[in-house]
Amino acid sequence: MIQDLENLRNEALSALQASPDANALEQWRITYLSRQGKLPAVLELMKNVPKEERPTLGKLSNEVKQALLAAFEERKAAFEGSLLDVSRLSPANDYRPIGQNNGLACAQELEDEILRLGPDKVAAFIFEPVVGAAGGCVPAPDGYAKRIREICDQYGVLMISDEVMCGAGRTGTWRALDKDGVEPDIMSVAKGLAAGYLPLGAAIYSDKVSEAFNHQPQTGHTFTGHTACCAAGVAVQKIVTREKLVERVAANEQKLKSMMADALFGIDAVGDIRGRGYFMAAELVANRQTKKPFAAEHKLFMHIRAQAFDNGLICYPVGGNVDGVNGDVIILAPPYNATDAELTEIVEKLAKSVKQVLGRLRLG
Ligand SMILES: Cc1ncc(COP(=O)(O)O)c(C=O)c1O
Repeated sequence: MIQDLENLRNEALSALQASPDANALEQWRITYLSRQGKLPAVLELMKNVPKEERPTLGKLSNEVKQALLAAFEERKAAFEGSLLDVSRLSPANDYRPIGQNNGLACAQELEDEILRLGPDKVAAFIFEPVVGAAGGCVPAPDGYAKRIREICDQYGVLMISDEVMCGAGRTGTWRALDKDGVEPDIMSVAKGLAAGYLPLGAAIYSDKVSEAFNHQPQTGHTFTGHTACCAAGVAVQKIVTREKLVERVAANEQKLKSMMADALFGIDAVGDIRGRGYFMAAELVANRQTKKPFAAEHKLFMHIRAQAFDNGLICYPVGGNVDGVNGDVIILAPPYNATDAELTEIVEKLAKSVKQVLGRLRLG
């Protein structure tokens, strides 16, 4: 039996190595799981990726993979059929709660799903501590992240915090999860790391994860560790520290939220204003009482983006946050060093654009 398992493990690993395009993260995950003795999880992963499709999967961009993990129906459609079958939980969102104690109710779904699949078949749980493009600046409900951490520890599941959008100080702490008092096993961070001056992303992981690879991570992308990009990241982080910009973002959080609330006051369609730090959003709904979204075909969020652009404001439009198809949210993510006058200009231009579009489209 043990020999069988060993053979299977070797077979799994050599099949993966034979596929040169297979994504490094997949390889790590499988190596890690194998070393942990979680062979069923490895086989489960392999089963879902037919041999001939593995390279295709490896070629998908990280952004697409991220969209696939979230329930982004529009972005997923083109890749249907060649994707890993992953479990998804309800969005953890206090504006649309699933239970009275929403944080714990959402976390309970994770435990239930782990038990349904069998803990030895679950490799990792991936989530954004403050959801970006898939939800529109949705902070984890109280108690959610802590309980998720406990559940992951209890069942030997890796906790992966996707901080590509919300990390690097954007939400007022350098790690977004810091606010929840929780440490993940693996954390991705990108956009703010080099402030967008040069492209830079990183996967940061715990000693426990590192040990599983004998401290020899496999970083096989062409530009991994690109010197100029890393230098830009160091320069940006030095300035962020020197100018105390993360502290500034945290200190101004309430001010920015109030400015948005004041500017958007009186617009019936504004159902929720939420976010953390300089990562704030307004969700637009057809009915504030029922929280019913506008029909997706109107693409309200895209109209607002275009109008805002004409008015001199670049904002981030989110669609499909409610059920993968319907929903309209507009994200504001000002520079950490924006002045008060600039913040005022930003929220005023947002309010003006929302009013112009709603007035023009007359969605009722
Ligand atoms: C939350 C989140 N995770 C992951 C990604 C993918 O990141 P990258 O494009 O740096 O691979 C994105 C891209 O926008 C994202 O918003």
